[in-house]
Amino acid sequence: MTAEEIIKNRQALFSKNYRTAKKVKSLASNLDFEDAVLLMNEMSENYRVLSELFPDNTKEGFDTEALPIIWEEKDKFTKLMLKASDDMTQLASIIEDADDVGGVLTKLMWSNCKACHNSEEYISQEVYVQIAIIKGKEKISTESAIDRYFNTNHFRDFSEGKPYFHFIDGLRDKCLGKLKNSPMRDKETEDETIKLLQKKLKNLTDDELEDTYWEIETGEFFSGEQIKELEKNCSELIKELNLLNKNKKEVQKTIMSFCENYEKLCQKKYPEAPLPLEILKSVN
Ligand code: HEC
Repeated sequence: MTAEEIIKNRQALFSKNYRTAKKVKSLASNLDFEDAVLLMNEMSENYRVLSELFPDNTKEGFDTEALPIIWEEKDKFTKLMLKASDDMTQLASIIEDADDVGGVLTKLMWSNCKACHNSEEYISQEVYVQIAIIKGKEKISTESAIDRYFNTNHFRDFSEGKPYFHFIDGLRDKCLGKLKNSPMRDKETEDETIKLLQKKLKNLTDDELEDTYWEIETGEFFSGEQIKELEKNCSELIKELNLLNKNKKEVQKTIMSFCENYEKLCQKKYPEAPLPLEILKSVN
């Protein structure tokens, strides 16, 4: 396969896994376990294939959204992929007997997506906005704006991992233990997300509530263990951004890839929104 074929292939597989994950969720919620298990095994196999689809010649180009950190931390990345694969096999073997179908789906399926995706999106957005503001104010190139950005408090906070902490604290804040007596608990609602929350509030033990965290945007639930995982990613980022250990060009590239990644995400999710840095335009 050429680099282009590999990149297109892996993107198609990720998209397919995403569609399959949604099907798994709906089948499993309707207690159609037989079909759900077939799809879970298919996802597991796809992850295995995916773990082989990141050779060195596919770091950039052809609209890949993959970040350089994948290749800098190749072993870790491959492990994550294989863990996602193993978790899907495990899910297939326990789903039928699970008391809390939604809970095991979150733990063994959705949380693996998050390990590679979500917090990144949040962080790229923060950085992107900061650089866009500097660029807009000073009317300079994006490269010079990044240079100036290095001297800001925002970069200092970022390179110390603060945005991660913010995301993690936000989650830690939504501990179900704190929502036990909230009025939401008994409110009549048709909203599936709120219904699921209410079910958890009613059925989990106090200890479980203390170890369950709710992410409002996606309605997903995290365990203390998963939050720890995020904290680990955070310390990896801090290493990437350390101007004392890495040369300036390298850090500049890392920042640029955050911005570029964010534009790509925006283009997909909000195709009408203006993108002040126009990184993608200048590349194409
Ligand atoms: C081990 C890391 C990892 C895991 C786990 C993971 N992804 Fe991804 N995902 C990636 C990377 C890296 C890309 C970018 C591939 C590229 O553009 O070359 C990607 C791309 C995507 C895309 C965009 C594909 C396209 O058309 O460009 C979607 C959608 C997606 N992932 C959804 C998911 C979902 C849903 C899950 C969980 C079921 C998941 N991913 C699990 C790393 C991961």
